Amino acid sequence: MTVTRTQVGIVGGGPAGLMLSHLLRRAGIDSVVVEARERSVIESTNRAGILERDSVRMLVDTGVSDRVLTDGHEHRGINLRFDGVNHLVNFQDLIGASTWLYPQTDVFIDLANAHDRDGGDVRFGVQDTDVADVTGQPRITYTDAEGTAHEIRCDILVGADGSRSITRAHVEGHTPYFKEYPFAWFGIMCEAPPSADELIYAHSERGFVLASQRTETVQRMYFQCDPHEKAENWSDDQIWAEMRARIAGQDGFELKEGPIFEKTVLPFRSFVCEPMRHGNLLLAGDAAHTVPPTGAKGLNLALADVRVLAEVLERHFGGEDGALDEYGPRALRRVWKAQHFSYWMTSMLHSVDGATDFDVKRQLGELSMVVGSERGSSYLAEAYTGWPED
Ligand code: DHB
Repeated sequence: MTVTRTQVGIVGGGPAGLMLSHLLRRAGIDSVVVEARERSVIESTNRAGILERDSVRMLVDTGVSDRVLTDGHEHRGINLRFDGVNHLVNFQDLIGASTWLYPQTDVFIDLANAHDRDGGDVRFGVQDTDVADVTGQPRITYTDAEGTAHEIRCDILVGADGSRSITRAHVEGHTPYFKEYPFAWFGIMCEAPPSADELIYAHSERGFVLASQRTETVQRMYFQCDPHEKAENWSDDQIWAEMRARIAGQDGFELKEGPIFEKTVLPFRSFVCEPMRHGNLLLAGDAAHTVPPTGAKGLNLALADVRVLAEVLERHFGGEDGALDEYGPRALRRVWKAQHFSYWMTSMLHSVDGATDFDVKRQLGELSMVVGSERGSSYLAEAYTGWPED
């Protein structure tokens, strides 16, 4: 067995774990990251695509990469589509902020490259990861691809190991807050030009549609489906027919269609683990909370967590007593705002089995109120582009 000593052991090498390790290295704190998946698997998995303003700043200002500014696309608003008409919510006009379309996969690639460049210790493709002694001197144990056992001894352990976290179970006595939704999203990647300048979030009685984008020739779209839906049961023609029916409206707007090269059903739920800390174990990102995808808050919340976490760890290692106590309460304030925002966008835009005419008319009333009021649409703009840090 090999033994490594480090200040911070990080389980999970997705964007949260890698960004934390990057920020710590800049602060002179050493860390080791272990990740069960191979780097090539993460680099080829499609995830969400929208970055808040502060997430973009974090990538650029901390020297990860400025590729987001050259390869990403600034989006100055979104379209809310209902009653067959698109309504632009213009974030720039309302509050002077934008978001950037830059896929999570690219954020991961930039972070992994930054670690290569800066000599970070990131171990991909590890097996049988376990943690112990989280209230004393924490340890991570794992087996590498050759079958050799490894142990990492650290002062602080961070669980950034995603929604199926193994570290979360070590937060003794935590309360898991859950909400299940009676639907999921069917996500597709297709070869087509963008359908509009801005993303379209569409309400229809047949269910929600989101027309997002990737490049000039590749688009990402989602439509609401049953949580038990099997992606392989849908042909391209069936998918486009359903999307067409949901988008159809008096303004004659149509989605640009093309060959579909990926189909996946995405889970849909809200979850928060409180507290986010037990002794010397701190959780970050999806390990501590999951939001429904509507509004693309997941990655942005993970990056906001590690921004706070890196700051308190720097103060902790600088000798400040009690710095770690601040982490959970500060992170959770933003988490619950994002839970509300994602829930609100979801409930305003999705159809629920058994909804009455009253329910549908009420949703349309809410959408009219949001787009018809500067204060209503500014609320959406502030939440979508990301709140300033508390
Ligand atoms: C994307 C995903 C989202 O959940 C969202 O609200 C906007 C965009 C995307 O994958 O592009």
